[in-house]
Amino acid sequence: MFLRSLQTVAGGGAKLDEERRRALDLALRYFRESAPKHTADEEESLFPRLESVDDPEVIAALVKVEELERDHREAEGLHRRVDELGMRWLETGELSSCDLAEFGKAVARLGEIYPAHIEVEDAVLFPAAARALSAAQKAEIAAEMALRRSVKLTSL
Ligand SMILES: [Fe+2]
Repeated sequence: MFLRSLQTVAGGGAKLDEERRRALDLALRYFRESAPKHTADEEESLFPRLESVDDPEVIAALVKVEELERDHREAEGLHRRVDELGMRWLETGELSSCDLAEFGKAVARLGEIYPAHIEVEDAVLFPAAARALSAAQKAEIAAEMALRRSVKLTSL
């Protein structure tokens, strides 16, 4: 949803009106706060636990982990640039055509990365994890994810 809103903002011309300014501000905040948590959920909590599981489906799924980590690195760089340009845009209300083109290109590239990335996570990795990890491992992952978000878990 926030990626779509960045795409809409990017396609609307160099001068920001109030509606696009709000959409841009919200989307930048979302990615600044949530994207690093997603990466940490997977790279610090999920992937290391999967690597310790001796299960053929998980071992096959782990081949995809390298791909997902590559996506995370590329997306991080793109988000950094989108954030820099977007903050400048919010401050000045207008972007140069060169910066606007770069912003649009970075957002478009994110739009290419995410669908395939999410498909691999949803179709391959998460089902394998759901089946192969123990209840205790899942509870540990949930607790770590909650801690990253300062959420208190009442039941697991
Ligand atoms: Fe991911």
